[in-house]
Amino acid sequence: MPSSGPDPRGLLDLAVAAAHAAGRLLEARPDRALTVDTKSTATDVVTEMDTAAERLIVETLLTARPDDGMLGEEGGRRPGRSGVRWVVDPIDGTVNYLYGIPQYAVSIAVELVSPGPAAQHTGAGHTGAGHTGAGEVVAGVVHQPATGATYTAVRGEGAFRDGRRLSVSGQGDLGQALVATGFGYAAGRRARQAEVLRAVLPRVRDIRRFGSAALDLCLVASGQVDGYYERGLQPWDLAAGALVAREAGARVEGLHGGPPGERLVLAAGPALFAALHDLLAPLGPDRD
Ligand code: IPD
Repeated sequence: MPSSGPDPRGLLDLAVAAAHAAGRLLEARPDRALTVDTKSTATDVVTEMDTAAERLIVETLLTARPDDGMLGEEGGRRPGRSGVRWVVDPIDGTVNYLYGIPQYAVSIAVELVSPGPAAQHTGAGHTGAGHTGAGEVVAGVVHQPATGATYTAVRGEGAFRDGRRLSVSGQGDLGQALVATGFGYAAGRRARQAEVLRAVLPRVRDIRRFGSAALDLCLVASGQVDGYYERGLQPWDLAAGALVAREAGARVEGLHGGPPGERLVLAAGPALFAALHDLLAPLGPDRD
């Protein structure tokens, strides 16, 4: 892992500028009369605005730093030579965006990766504790264009919303905990997720399904939910929000101390984490 290199704060500033530019583009389409395509299933949509926003973000980042690598949800993938890779979700919460619901976000994370082609691959590896399988996430921004809220974090320097420091809730009583979750797009996975939810719901204060994993993680960071879990997330859903949550004091892990990633992401303050983990683990939330 590189110990020196580009200043993460400078990289964060660039990420914030790109996220705000994309947010302005997205909010300039209040009619939401969009051309919509589908991805993994008929309900997994990509709008023309996902593509346009990712193009704008990639152009902004690579104009400033042409040697960097890129991993974007909508196909903006390229190897880099600089030791920096950007992990971009132009709209996390695309279905909300499509329906005019404000809970959607632009998510951009910055990874430092070891030099060399193997480390700068273009694929989406698992998103481990602070890395996406290719490097270490050192800075991230999650911007909610509809409200203007901007969540930021630099590794080791805390997490912030619009400049105000965030910290996780101190809730330690599972029965009083407000827990966010999300669901995949495939019917089989959803059926399993419904089974898990059926066991979790009677044991917690309540459940929230907001529709943007990046923002769910930021809500853990701000203490506006006490915990969050979801199976099936990709690095672009997770990379920036996980850093924000962790820098606000959350544990962000998979089951049994494993890294968070596609199999499962579990995030909560230290007072709640073990109880939520121990509720979920026997339910096999990381199985389809
Ligand atoms: C989705 C959202 C949603 C989560 C899904 C993700 P997308 O991302 O984060 O909350 O439940 O698992 O795929 O498709 O809107 O970028």
